[in-house]
Amino acid sequence: MHVLKNISILYTCRMEGNQESLHPVENAAIAWCDGMFEWVGKESELPKKYDTADTIDANGKIVIPGLVDCHTHLCFGGWRPDEFEMRTRGESYLDIAKAGGGILSTVKSTRKASFNELYEKAASLLQKMIRIGITTVECKSGYGLRFQDEIKQLNVYKKLQENFAVEIIPTFLGAHTIPPEFKGNRQGYIDLIIHEMIPYIAAEKLARFCDIFVEESAFTVDEARIILETAKEHGLIPKLHADQLSDGGGAELAAELGAISADHLEKVSDTGLQKMAENNVTAVTLPLASLYTQQPYLNCRRLLNLGVDVAVATDFNPGSAPSFDIHLAMMLTCNHGRLTPSETLKAATIYSAKAIKAEEKTGSIEPGKKADFILLNAPDINFWLYHFGGSKIESVYVKGVKVES
Ligand code: NIG
Ligand code: FE
Repeated sequence: MHVLKNISILYTCRMEGNQESLHPVENAAIAWCDGMFEWVGKESELPKKYDTADTIDANGKIVIPGLVDCHTHLCFGGWRPDEFEMRTRGESYLDIAKAGGGILSTVKSTRKASFNELYEKAASLLQKMIRIGITTVECKSGYGLRFQDEIKQLNVYKKLQENFAVEIIPTFLGAHTIPPEFKGNRQGYIDLIIHEMIPYIAAEKLARFCDIFVEESAFTVDEARIILETAKEHGLIPKLHADQLSDGGGAELAAELGAISADHLEKVSDTGLQKMAENNVTAVTLPLASLYTQQPYLNCRRLLNLGVDVAVATDFNPGSAPSFDIHLAMMLTCNHGRLTPSETLKAATIYSAKAIKAEEKTGSIEPGKKADFILLNAPDINFWLYHFGGSKIESVYVKGVKVES
């Protein structure tokens, strides 16, 4: 039994209410046992049974739930700093991709890398993510684009889950782009995904979700429909990279298929958003991708006005978002996404958990959930996100255990 006392403000981030309802408790305490929250409330009401618990003093810090990064491409070979330089010189993300760079360049490096190399690299990145308070991470494949290499990436995630206390949520993204050997034979690659990859991955439980990049340079809406319907038949839940560079009808498809989330959405139409709202599809904003590809940011206020819940994630990958700094993504969600710090915190916690169907387990500080939480050196969350820079993290707890810094 453990208790954390003397919390100035506890932002519980429970689901009820709207995007801005954080359900804060002042002068709070929390208690946990075997890695799960057991009691949450005003310190003055802490039940007697906790008198004998191991007690930690929060010294008046504020406390928020562990952050949920619901969209990353964590396992990849190589990096692409050359493309970063090219973009500063004015070349666009799409031009670079068309010239053989972009996703395909990372596919080459990922195919070349051994399982152990990929594992060591992803594990070291994951450790850094945990230190900044990320306690649940969705992780996509999509840099293998052939059977053995997609499986290799998903097995890296499986091993990460075995070795780390944080929650790893694996997603199959075989439909990230068409691999070079299927250039001119799109249907051949789609058949491989549908007939071989999805059935194997679902049977081996290597992924919970199936994602797809719906975009001119990747897959059409009709191709996506076939792939995601097959995924659903095998028990994988659909997710989409939608309407990032053009309005390609991705949001509408997400609604039609009952996808759990549609991510990016910078070019989404009002009709697409209305359909997402009607079907309770969570929108995931990825402002680091806008920052690095010099694209307009998604105005998340517009989404809230149309009734869509917004989550925020890093999109961490070696090309369009080579940073896992979720705090930066949150600050940009305030400044460019036009959400308040409160709305943004809900986006990075319980709504982000909802975008990966993990809201029953994590994303808020409530009895019965994993004891993942962060102590912050800031008087409140407005100050935390406004005075950006320099870590304000005092400590991070995963399943009730303090992470060594
Ligand atoms: O989410 N949009 C497609 N996929 C990634 C980019 C991957 C890459 O550039 O390697 C994204 O932005
Ligand atoms: Fe992505």
